[in-house]
Amino acid sequence: MSPVLVISHSPQVVGLVQQAWGPDGFAIAPERFPDTVPALLALLQGAPLPSVAVLDPRGDTQAALSLAVELDRNFNIASVLVSDQAAALGLAAMRAGVRDIVAPDAPVEEMKYALERAATHSGPRVQQPPGVTPGGATQRGKVVTVASPKGGVGKTTVSTNLAVGLAQKLPQSTVLVDLDIHFGDVASALNVTPEYTLPDMAHGPASHDPLALKTYLHLHQTGLYVVPGSDSPAAADAVTSKEVVNLLDTLAGQFKYVVVDTAPGLSEHTLAVLDQTDILVMVTSLDVPGVRGLRKELDTLRDIGLLLESRAVVLNFMHPTRGISVSDVEASIGRKVDFQLPQSNSVPISVNQGIPLLQAGSRDPVAKQLRLLVDVIDNNEKVGSKGRRFLDFGHKKEATS
Ligand SMILES: Nc1ncnc2c1ncn2[C@@H]1O[C@H](COP(=O)(O)OP(=O)(O)OP(=O)(O)O)[C@@H](O)[C@H]1O
Ligand SMILES: [Mg+2]
Repeated sequence: MSPVLVISHSPQVVGLVQQAWGPDGFAIAPERFPDTVPALLALLQGAPLPSVAVLDPRGDTQAALSLAVELDRNFNIASVLVSDQAAALGLAAMRAGVRDIVAPDAPVEEMKYALERAATHSGPRVQQPPGVTPGGATQRGKVVTVASPKGGVGKTTVSTNLAVGLAQKLPQSTVLVDLDIHFGDVASALNVTPEYTLPDMAHGPASHDPLALKTYLHLHQTGLYVVPGSDSPAAADAVTSKEVVNLLDTLAGQFKYVVVDTAPGLSEHTLAVLDQTDILVMVTSLDVPGVRGLRKELDTLRDIGLLLESRAVVLNFMHPTRGISVSDVEASIGRKVDFQLPQSNSVPISVNQGIPLLQAGSRDPVAKQLRLLVDVIDNNEKVGSKGRRFLDFGHKKEATS
């Protein structure tokens, strides 16, 4: 198996790489950080060049970037830069061909993910660590789309909390895309003032170049990356479905999870995204128009072949005085409801403050259900004792008519 080389003086960084990649690697701690491949070869003393280089230059970032350029262009060797200055270094690192930037105190999972992605991009010489499918099949992230036929039913509440919850599990693993391009309020729900919005990322080089794109993303304080919707209707109108598909594709190559918040209904953009979606989360409110709309949307998606096996139904605004029950809803839509969010004042309060419930560590019943949704998606696990508690568990009961 092709080894990973770590250039670092820090036992913490070397240990991080070892835990992430396993024993097949080697580390050097040169006095001067090599800024060219010949300088590196001199230090390697006959050992072969690696497939992936982890560069921890401490103060000598310039040398590391020069080395990364040569490794990438001349030897097709991918570099992962160790730095806690990801935002400041993003553009320069991208130009140097660096595949990823990982903080020295990052969780093992994050380093593992960066190394696996770097290995995937290193050309045919690279072999993957055990458990990773050759060809990088496990490298592509999951696209989780939150949709509903009606507006105001809780899509943004669900998508922001889901994305924050996934990012809390593994910082910088998740990007949230506001595909409600015209009227999206993800930025406000997260209390961020972004420099760039979706149209900036959908056009031009950023849509295809992963590292360029990363410099456009907004990094939220929870470790979640954000692609905010547009604040200009004209710019939003100019974004095509094809561009949205390209953007999601690039993001899925970079992040473990791409959570997509959508506009109500089945717009052209939403249909394009559904075609790329791995897990669909349908949201409805506990009222007759909302439930009927959901039934219609499920039927439509089934008719056009876009109803995914992996999907969940979230019933929002649960309240005993609403006049219909969960079993009424299940009878109407012909499948089980997977998650029930009670009506709760804590939701509008969190939206008004711009702090999602899961970021605030809320113990509200809504937060508990949202946490369960995060766990089910992240663990892909069986929960509870009444059979499979996974995202397709309702479809067996689904009506066929
Ligand atoms: N469980 C709940 N209890 C009380 N209020 C809620 C609940 N869920 C959502 N809300 C409130 O309902 C409003 C609409 O929620 P949200 O913005 O998440 O819906 P949406 O489906 O994204 O709407 P749109 O279609 O307009 O984008 C918000 O003010 C939110 O605070
Ligand atoms: Mg919304």
